[in-house]
Amino acid sequence: MSGHENPPGSAHEGAPQPDYVIDVRQLNKHFGSKHVVNNVSLRVARGEIFGFLGPNGSGKTTSIRLMCGLLTPDSGSGTCLGYDIVRESEQIKRRVGYMTQRFSYWEDLTIRENLDFVARIYQMPNRREAVDRALESLGLASRASQLTGALSGGWKQRLALAACMLHEPQLLLLDEPTAGVDPNARREFWEELHRLAARGISVLVSTHYMDEAERCHKLAYIAYGKLLAQGTAAEVIASQDLATWAIHGEQLAALSARLRETPGIDQTVVFGSVLHASGLDHAALAAAVEHAVAGKPLRAERIETSLEDIFIYLMGSVSDNYGAPT
Ligand SMILES: Nc1ncnc2c1ncn2[C@@H]1O[C@H](COP(=O)(O)OP(=O)(O)OP(=O)(O)O)[C@@H](O)[C@H]1O
Ligand SMILES: [Mg+2]
Repeated sequence: MSGHENPPGSAHEGAPQPDYVIDVRQLNKHFGSKHVVNNVSLRVARGEIFGFLGPNGSGKTTSIRLMCGLLTPDSGSGTCLGYDIVRESEQIKRRVGYMTQRFSYWEDLTIRENLDFVARIYQMPNRREAVDRALESLGLASRASQLTGALSGGWKQRLALAACMLHEPQLLLLDEPTAGVDPNARREFWEELHRLAARGISVLVSTHYMDEAERCHKLAYIAYGKLLAQGTAAEVIASQDLATWAIHGEQLAALSARLRETPGIDQTVVFGSVLHASGLDHAALAAAVEHAVAGKPLRAERIETSLEDIFIYLMGSVSDNYGAPT
């Protein structure tokens, strides 16, 4: 990492101001014979919170690493913060805030010491001020001298966010930043992300949580290395043209298994006390559901297809083509 006069990514640096902070086309990456990232094209606009979803091992982390220049694609091209992801990876690495999937810190250092350590890595000229600013803006100032190991999961995530914001990046790449964090702390974390986005900071964030997906401006769903859908939540839902009925009643698991074998019903999912039945042929689905509930203590109603229905559907459609997950 080379020295520099201004904090990387700062407004004084004269860095390019692209419309898209991430703009990559047809990225491919193999690990051995495994095609881990398969023709992925993706654009993230300035100030956008872009959610990256997909099952375990689908290529989210690898894609993120390709986009920020930490890995070289086998083929494909693109820019991150206006810099070429292959030729200018050093520039990118200094300018993005990257929170790795299993972010770690020194548990026996204080919060301030951990942040100071990160500031040294970034060779920041005004370390003390930067660390103070980070502590203040994330509400960690009163806890600066606490040992990091004693922090709750939620506070550890705030520290991780503070650390990757230290050098004032314009783009955050957050790889499952809230995994294992309780709902309240996750909600606060997301409020902070929206405050940052309102200031023009862009965020690419991978997650397995559906409520978090719904809080993103745009989404991409990836499975087996392939991007299956991309856009706003409404666009992603509309892209599959799947109709859905909700069925209320008893013994939904058994009903679900039966309905799955019924023509016209392409997918059934039990969500607690309600069963969702979805299908591509809307008329056939309606007929099948009405027939299934007729004369039984069940109630059915047509509902809006949810994002979760769609993700389950996408996952199912691709595993049919690619076999079992590895
Ligand atoms: N350095 C590597 N060498 C070999 N295979 C790898 C390497 N990194 C990742 N893989 C494989 O590539 C595939 C995609 O992994 P990746 O970590 O990108 O998925 P992911 O979507 O981030 O998964 P998760 O949700 O579990 O974090 C997996 O099959 C993984 O085992
Ligand atoms: Mg991952």
